[in-house]
Amino acid sequence: MSAAAPRRAIVTGAGPRSIGRAVADALIADGWEVTVTRRDTLDLADRASVAAFATSYAGQADRLDLLVNSAGIHLDLGSRWKEPQLLDGHEVHWRTNYLGTVDLTTALLPLLLAGAGGTVVHVVSQLHDRGTTDQLLGRPVAYDSWASYGTSKLGLVHHAALLAERYGEQGLRALSVHPGAVSTNIAARGLETRPLLRRLRNLALPLERRTLMTPEESAAHLVRIATDPSAEPGYYRKSRRLDPAPAAADVEARAQLAARTEEWLATPQ
Ligand SMILES: NC(=O)c1ccc[n+]([C@@H]2O[C@H](COP(=O)([O-])OP(=O)(O)OC[C@H]3O[C@@H](n4cnc5c(N)ncnc54)[C@H](OP(=O)(O)O)[C@@H]3O)[C@@H](O)[C@H]2O)c1
Repeated sequence: MSAAAPRRAIVTGAGPRSIGRAVADALIADGWEVTVTRRDTLDLADRASVAAFATSYAGQADRLDLLVNSAGIHLDLGSRWKEPQLLDGHEVHWRTNYLGTVDLTTALLPLLLAGAGGTVVHVVSQLHDRGTTDQLLGRPVAYDSWASYGTSKLGLVHHAALLAERYGEQGLRALSVHPGAVSTNIAARGLETRPLLRRLRNLALPLERRTLMTPEESAAHLVRIATDPSAEPGYYRKSRRLDPAPAAADVEARAQLAARTEEWLATPQ
């Protein structure tokens, strides 16, 4: 009798001490075959890089059982920016966290639909409640980098709901998860332009590590719901299913966002 086919996962954003790394380690310990990415293997803000990664993965695997989209940025933690920092013509959080994640998920969708039923987990944030429908739909807003981070995560909460609506009957499960407040490298990157704050944070790191969750604690929640077929689609805080912020329930905004995103995806690179 042939051995059972391995369960295959991709986990993005698996740098040292990250949530993605801890999720990958937990899956590997449970027998999964896991492909991990960092910016040097897959740059979400570069469409050619996303396309090359997806093509290369499709060349090695006939299906994908689980995609954990953990890669993300929260820059300008010190709220210094007065104007949006643009990347590829888009606000940097929107381009990386939202557009990059949707680009990758769309490219991998045929593989996610090829097996018995794939699962997509978008690692979002409770701060999606700082996001606004106006910014989501590209209307002019006064710039605030925290609200922009929140809007990128609000977009992903909508996207997970859209995937569940469109592909749920084909067996796809799509979840969005706030991972908790976790001591990782996200703050170090977010304070790159604030050397003093960064030094203070480094001094306070032992306290931060005692106060916040470890990546492993956060990953345990995430892996539990990602691998439990009975966990319903929706928004989770750690492993608890909750209603997301009211803006994430705006189905008209979701439809408009989907149309705008499809237009962007169809634009030649
Ligand atoms: N930590 C928290 O308290 C917290 C709270 C709420 C939500 N989150 C969310 O949790 C997720 C994981 O964050 P974390 O805390 O583990 O942060 P982290 O330690 O900074 O890890 C982030 C990962 O994302 C990758 N990444 C950044 N920009 C990328 C790009 N353009 N293309 C591809 N990969 C990119 C990084 O790659 P490199 O390794 O190459 O740098 C890194 O591996 C993020 O989506 C974040 O928004 C975190």
